[in-house]
Amino acid sequence: MAEELYINQQVSKEEKYQELIPQLSALVSGENDPIANLANLMAALKQAFNFWWVGVYVVKNDELVLGPFQGPIACTRIKKGKGVCGTAWQEAKTIIVPDVDQFPGHIACSSLSKSEIVIPVFNKNKEVIMVIDVDSEKLADFDQIDEIYLNKIANLISDFV
Ligand code: SME
Repeated sequence: MAEELYINQQVSKEEKYQELIPQLSALVSGENDPIANLANLMAALKQAFNFWWVGVYVVKNDELVLGPFQGPIACTRIKKGKGVCGTAWQEAKTIIVPDVDQFPGHIACSSLSKSEIVIPVFNKNKEVIMVIDVDSEKLADFDQIDEIYLNKIANLISDFV
């Protein structure tokens, strides 16, 4: 495939996700290396939405370890139940945090991050194998639209990891 994304910046967030997802699917279809695919997916999300930080944390030996991401450097390990990522892993569900200062135990990798969404990625046995973490410098920047489409991307990831 051509290593080029078509992203119309004039359309709504939902339309942007709708245009992006088939391209992401094509992007990963010809490659079976998980790191290569995750790296390209995070780059594509950054390019489409210019998120402040977007990346994955991978479950390894009972903690989350930083994986491919786009944005400022971040903490490398998160324990189960800690922060937004560790909580999304423990509860095996998406967490939307409109104001990170109001989330008990939030891990501030960047003081500029104001809101956050974390989506678990499941394997075939319905175990969480990683989480997708997206941060914004704006308050309340994530909603059900992000939840729906980032979950579709999580499903895409489940197919190649
Ligand atoms: N804020 C996250 C930590 C990861 S960084 O935001 C990249 C958390 O509370 O789990």
